[in-house]
Amino acid sequence: MTPYAGAVHVSALQTPALVVDADALAHNLATMAAALPGPRLRPHVKAHKTLALAARQAAAGHPGFTCATIREVEGLAAAGLGTDLLLANEVVDARRLGAVADSGARVTVAVDSDETVDAAARGAVHEVVIDVNVGLPRCGCDPADAGRLADRARRAGLSVRGVMGYEGHLMTEQPRATRADKTESCMELLLRASSAVGGDLVSGGGTGTFDVNTWVTEIQAGSYVLMDTAYGALGLPFRQALGIEATVISVNRAGWAVADCGLKALGMDHGDPTIEGASVWYCSDEHVTFSCVPLPRVGDRVRVTPAHVDPTVAYHERMHVLAADGTVTETWPVDLRGW
Ligand SMILES: Cc1ncc(COP(=O)(O)O)c(C=O)c1O
Repeated sequence: MTPYAGAVHVSALQTPALVVDADALAHNLATMAAALPGPRLRPHVKAHKTLALAARQAAAGHPGFTCATIREVEGLAAAGLGTDLLLANEVVDARRLGAVADSGARVTVAVDSDETVDAAARGAVHEVVIDVNVGLPRCGCDPADAGRLADRARRAGLSVRGVMGYEGHLMTEQPRATRADKTESCMELLLRASSAVGGDLVSGGGTGTFDVNTWVTEIQAGSYVLMDTAYGALGLPFRQALGIEATVISVNRAGWAVADCGLKALGMDHGDPTIEGASVWYCSDEHVTFSCVPLPRVGDRVRVTPAHVDPTVAYHERMHVLAADGTVTETWPVDLRGW
């Protein structure tokens, strides 16, 4: 359903509204597809949670997807995008994943413990990767335990496709040379685990390491397609495509203004959003308070750029794609939200 499609202009949207610059989006899709063509990129859908956007990534040549939730796996499979779905996350109840695999999609789940191996077998998922800790305190087994877990999985009747290891703590490490060096150390751990595990998949990486992680067989980047200010600071070849259209609802002549885009419309874990030409003071539930010269008028529109794309998108029901003149060309439901 595209309730705002047609000649509607961004200025007519109810705010706060998630908006996507069509040109920047096309640039990001094409730039990544040129750098990591076909299965070299396994786009992570956690950043956008939007089937229409996943379809654009598939059309750009990437046959498989990375997911963070069972809901994402289910949604992609139901939409016919289930050629090769990797749930890069552990689950202790894999029955819904098994049902997706039964429906004909290819489903692989990450495991890092006896419990999650057994859950995959009980849930009839069939295929797993061994998730290896490469330095970020998140999921992932000790590299030295990877071979043993793979043996246990095979004994349980599972097919072990290989390993994954997410170097998420390095995504915004600066400068690029340091990011590359530290990524190499992480990937040494992952490759050692890969030799013990077997299989042909070595999966890892993200937007910040897409061009420095040359050790994995596939990169799991997701944010590149929409971008945020945290990644924008790195000088990557991707453009800021995502913004939030907001309306100024109050102006105080003492020197500040308030727009209707607060922390219920923004992921704030990477810090305050930015507004071009303005200084953002802080965000509260429904408000962003900022100053600029001259002050705007009540009713003016401002474009708010989030610091972290993933949680921002997850707050919104839909995203509006904008042509260069601000016309809404498409409205996409953010339909992979939920669990
Ligand atoms: C397992 C995993 N792989 C890859 C990524 C990379 O995502 P991005 O490109 O958005 O940094 C993430 C992000 O959180 C992740 O959790």
